[in-house]
Amino acid sequence: MNQKRILSGMRPTGLLHIGHYVGALENWIELQNQYECYFLIADYHVLTTDLDTKDIYNNSIKMLIDWLSAGLDPNKCLMFRQSQIKQHAELFLIFSMFITANRLERNPTLKDQVRDLNLDNVIYGHLGYPVLQAADILLYKGDFVPVGEDQVPHVEISREIARRFNNQYGIVFPEPEPLLTTFPRLPGLDGNAKMSKSLNNTILLSDSPDEIKSKIRKAVTDKNKIRKGDPGNPDICLIYSYHKKFNSLETEEIYQNCKSGALGCADCKAKCTLRISDFFSPLREKRNYYESNYQEVLDILANGENAAKTVAEKTMNEVHQKMNLG
Ligand code: TRP
Repeated sequence: MNQKRILSGMRPTGLLHIGHYVGALENWIELQNQYECYFLIADYHVLTTDLDTKDIYNNSIKMLIDWLSAGLDPNKCLMFRQSQIKQHAELFLIFSMFITANRLERNPTLKDQVRDLNLDNVIYGHLGYPVLQAADILLYKGDFVPVGEDQVPHVEISREIARRFNNQYGIVFPEPEPLLTTFPRLPGLDGNAKMSKSLNNTILLSDSPDEIKSKIRKAVTDKNKIRKGDPGNPDICLIYSYHKKFNSLETEEIYQNCKSGALGCADCKAKCTLRISDFFSPLREKRNYYESNYQEVLDILANGENAAKTVAEKTMNEVHQKMNLG
């Protein structure tokens, strides 16, 4: 076991989809065997774009069930809610003294959100999103942060903050590094490059085989391939990119037969449905287990939160000492 620590997190905005699995969870599940791992339910971060908190607890538990079903193992990693560990808020405050407003205004993810969500005004907490994320990572002295490409600017901001804090008060924090996921992003069912809940183009981890079937049946394919016999272009077909991930044995054959026209989209989709259903079948079983053992889920969360609190207190004691706030 490597002594380095991993920290990552997700915002609890609803049920997870297979893009989350390929882009993050699958990687986390590997990492929990190699490192000390901390996985955070970033419930405070949700507030930056949505102040309606009525579903926040339920969404957090749903996400935890998704995590557990996917294979995160409470004996190997800690899972906890950000809001339950007060030190996140305290470290966020301290860290906000170590970065300029100008630097945060230049954060590319903020610019993207302002555009995508049509925001007229940016709240102070949204500007500070990466500062809270730096607190998430550094409170547990995370060395590596497995994230998608889009989150790299936040890890960079965390490094800058860690460096400045250490220069000012003496070394407390590591300078965390991003760990990028290698598998390319899964496209959505509508052909959009990104699978995303807000685009309504997802296959959920919790979808039943029937739901998977009907979603895939409606998915967009190569528009020039109208009927069986027409040659298709698998390189631009989202179904083919799903095959590449979930049907590695047949990919080559599917590629050739799509190109030649021998394979029609309906048959190709049926194969894809079968593979995806099979691939996620163990997850559905585990989900059934956790849904009928709800108390166990709550206990896992409580244990994670207790253990995370101990680590957070220890880091904050060091911070207080170095800062002469003891
Ligand atoms: N910002 C991340 C996202 O939207 C979620 C997150 C919050 C996170 N805190 C984190 C990720 C700390 C990695 C480390 O996906």
